[in-house]
Amino acid sequence: MNILITGGAGFIGSHVVRRFVTNYPDYHIYNLDALTYAGNLENLRDIEDYPNYTFLKGDILDAPFLNQIFEKYKFDGVIHLAAESHVDRSITDPLSFVRTNIIGTVNLLNISRDFWKEKKDNKRFYHISTDEVYGSLGADGMFTEETPYDPNSPYSASKASSDHFVRAYGETYGLPYVITNCSNNYGPNHFPEKLIPLFVNNIIENKPLPVYGDGKYTRDWLFVKDHAAAIDLVFHKGKNRETYNIGGFNEWQNIELVKLLCRLMDEKLNRPAGTSEKLITYVRDRPGHDLRYAIDASKINRELGWKPSVTFEQGLELTIDWYLENQEWLDHVTSGDYQEYYEKMYK
Ligand code: NAD
Ligand code: TYD
Repeated sequence: MNILITGGAGFIGSHVVRRFVTNYPDYHIYNLDALTYAGNLENLRDIEDYPNYTFLKGDILDAPFLNQIFEKYKFDGVIHLAAESHVDRSITDPLSFVRTNIIGTVNLLNISRDFWKEKKDNKRFYHISTDEVYGSLGADGMFTEETPYDPNSPYSASKASSDHFVRAYGETYGLPYVITNCSNNYGPNHFPEKLIPLFVNNIIENKPLPVYGDGKYTRDWLFVKDHAAAIDLVFHKGKNRETYNIGGFNEWQNIELVKLLCRLMDEKLNRPAGTSEKLITYVRDRPGHDLRYAIDASKINRELGWKPSVTFEQGLELTIDWYLENQEWLDHVTSGDYQEYYEKMYK
């Protein structure tokens, strides 16, 4: 099998690429990535010389390029992760989310449809999406696969739109697809603009921890390698034209999570208990901030037997250890443009 993975130099994509390259020596994995600020080939240093791995630098907005690589490599499957992924950036620059997340996805759909016209039984377009398309929950309830879409941020609106296009290509052109909607991921290689890696980095540097609003927003956290395992399972065993929700059954209010992180970081850094908590600073809230996400992942558990393999405490510890052991990675990604972003966002 020749498999195209898009966005494989990013956070989740790099874990998916590594898993497929190392678990399936008979497959050839092509990683297509534009290497935006979020893409980083350092994430894949350990597997870059594997004979069944090829990196293709390119943009999913470049339809002629997509055409060329489909012609050349005759992909049997696409696992599509490339996206603009940060809600705060979508608030300041919605159009780049429209371009990559909607138009880029439609480009990939068009090419897949055209190249898989004849024999499509063993082909698969796998679209990786988010629980944020379902909008915000109140105090109770969980998102199921039947929850109506109700996106609130330009990011989630662009992902919702791309999900609809994927479904529409299934209905209209018979494209074999599967979609998963996953909750918040955390783990190694996470770019330090999202809550957990940003706060880990700020604690190391003794910088303020900017908690939005009152900190009582709730997210459902999943270790990234458990997401990669779910993607592997759904790619191989998921039913065509189905959606699966993926989540950790692991809800945390931001402020409680931040306090846990502070406690663990104090221990790891041998600082007196309470040192990191003093860095917590309440800042202006994010506009349109979704109150609560919680995923009902019982369908993927029931039908495919997937469940998370690590507890949150284990996953968080693995994550913190990774950042402390990979200071060089952090230094590289937080130099240059990152400083400019940080100034604009938090000052
Ligand atoms: P990320 O921002 O870390 O990585 C995105 C990758 O896509 C980067 O390598 C970037 O260079 C690449 N990319 C961006 N625009 C591109 C373009 N036009 N052409 C080619 N490549 C491009 O994102 P992530 O957190 O790894 O998320 C991956 C996918 O998973 C996204 O589709 C996201 O919506 C989805 N998702 C993320 C989470 C989460 O918690 N991070 C949760 C659920 C779903
Ligand atoms: P984030 O990691 O950006 O993921 P998402 O918005 O996709 O859920 O944010 C997770 C939660 O943390 C969300 O409620 C916003 C909050 N948050 C802060 O309080 N401060 C920050 O600096 C960031 C980046 C996020």
